[in-house]
Amino acid sequence: MGTKLTSLAVSRHKRSQGAAPLVMLTAYDTPSATMADKAGADIILVGDSLAMVVLGHPDTLQVTTQEMAYHTAAVARSNPEALLVADMAWLSYHINTADTVTNAAQLIRAGAQAVKLEGGAERVPMVDALVSAQIPVMGHLGLTPQSLLAQGGYCIQGRSSETALALLADAKALCHAGCFAIVLEAMPAAVANMITETVDVPTIGIGAGPGCDGQVLVFHDVLGIETGLRPRFVRRYASLHDQGVEALAQFAADVRSGQFPNHTESYEMNPDEQMALEFYDTNHDAEAL
Ligand code: KIV
Repeated sequence: MGTKLTSLAVSRHKRSQGAAPLVMLTAYDTPSATMADKAGADIILVGDSLAMVVLGHPDTLQVTTQEMAYHTAAVARSNPEALLVADMAWLSYHINTADTVTNAAQLIRAGAQAVKLEGGAERVPMVDALVSAQIPVMGHLGLTPQSLLAQGGYCIQGRSSETALALLADAKALCHAGCFAIVLEAMPAAVANMITETVDVPTIGIGAGPGCDGQVLVFHDVLGIETGLRPRFVRRYASLHDQGVEALAQFAADVRSGQFPNHTESYEMNPDEQMALEFYDTNHDAEAL
């Protein structure tokens, strides 16, 4: 049995200091978390991608703190060795610092060891309040899916030197406010490299090139359970959707052809009891005539 990873240990994990890249995977329930943990993930993120890959919503704006807490509790029941981080739902950390801490506390009480929130310098008061409440915070910069409407779609961020420098300033602000790690999503590798070299905490990339201190992908993307649009940064390591449909179709065919269940998949009766049952059945039929 290994030891549970902490946010403090993660905060010191820089490749520039010789550390191996961090591995983060999303998970949304006990079996997916068990799989991610057995596979050796350092961090399990209960991402708000839950909304899209599990709950069938068109974007991440639809998921609530209650739903995030419900799924965080299911993930926590797998008792992972990985650090367990839960995403804060859209609008649960935008209004004021008191709401932010109260909403984060729901995720912590559900079993998360840290929370993640999206945004840059504008989130510093919220990060400050969470850190004061002893809640470790992971930042998230670049393409921030909760900003879908404001960013005008899912667009690569930091392509101009001006926007790249704004991302760098945001990363410094989050690091200064006490974030223990920062996710960098969908930005040129050169920008992610500059941020990674500048901030003291690890960066975890998704569509941000190979230079980050770690990489994250969505569970359903890695395993090919999700078959919708595939961004270029997704590498599929299995086709579980297709394999699953094939297996389920085989089950349906076996039921319809009478090949399922067979004797080994059925329960036998004690022969004496079976004879008594058949005797009762025969007499019962005779009485009824
Ligand atoms: O919600 C999520 O899955 C995420 C990761 C893609 C970083 O935020």
